[in-house]
Amino acid sequence: MTQQFEHFKPVALNHASRLLNHGPTVLVTSAHAGRRNIMAAAWSMPVEFTPPRVAVVIDKNTFSRELIAASGVFAVCIPGAAAADLAYAVGTSSGREGDKFERFGIAARPGGLTGAPLLSSACVAWLECRLIPERHVEDAYDTCFAEVLAAAADERVFSDGHWSFREDNADLHTLHHLGAGHFARASAMIKAKALP
Ligand SMILES: Cc1cc2nc3c(=O)[nH]c(=O)nc-3n(C[C@H](O)[C@H](O)[C@H](O)COP(=O)(O)O)c2cc1C
Repeated sequence: MTQQFEHFKPVALNHASRLLNHGPTVLVTSAHAGRRNIMAAAWSMPVEFTPPRVAVVIDKNTFSRELIAASGVFAVCIPGAAAADLAYAVGTSSGREGDKFERFGIAARPGGLTGAPLLSSACVAWLECRLIPERHVEDAYDTCFAEVLAAAADERVFSDGHWSFREDNADLHTLHHLGAGHFARASAMIKAKALP
């Protein structure tokens, strides 16, 4: 099953937190002054509902952080399980060594609100985000807080505000980093029942 923009549908902002709620590994993309970049981030989470805000740990020493500080925006792309090798590759190399999109053959187009690259294959959802400038936080921590401006997801695996991980869409399940290049794939879903 391939990931393609034709299957992407907008996600209402009040459902944007659901995209990150279960802790998927994400790909943070950025662009500024003709340069663009992509890195993996295992640490991200929703932090507020309205407006939707997220926190993503982006090491101060990364090239991504440099572009994000300069542009004030970034995108969070959520890779499908089929993109595990890609997620590991962009998480173990730096954009300072060259354009990772070219090096790894990653197709992307600029996001309409941020200009940050949105992957046209390999990802199952994306969120366009505006960095919330908090100088004392930025100086002290690797954590970046951002407001979600827009979101979309592949309707074959996320619709009506819910993920649907099934056997027939296994390549579109999200990735969860266990460390050292090992990932778990979101799979069996469990519906909680009310206790008697
Ligand atoms: C699976 C995976 C998850 C990662 N998670 C994070 C993370 O949450 N935060 C972070 O700052 N770096 C994380 N990294 C490391 C960055 O992706 C790595 O430093 C990357 O080379 C930075 O690229 P850049 O210099 O081109 O921005 C992760 C790496 C991998 C492989």
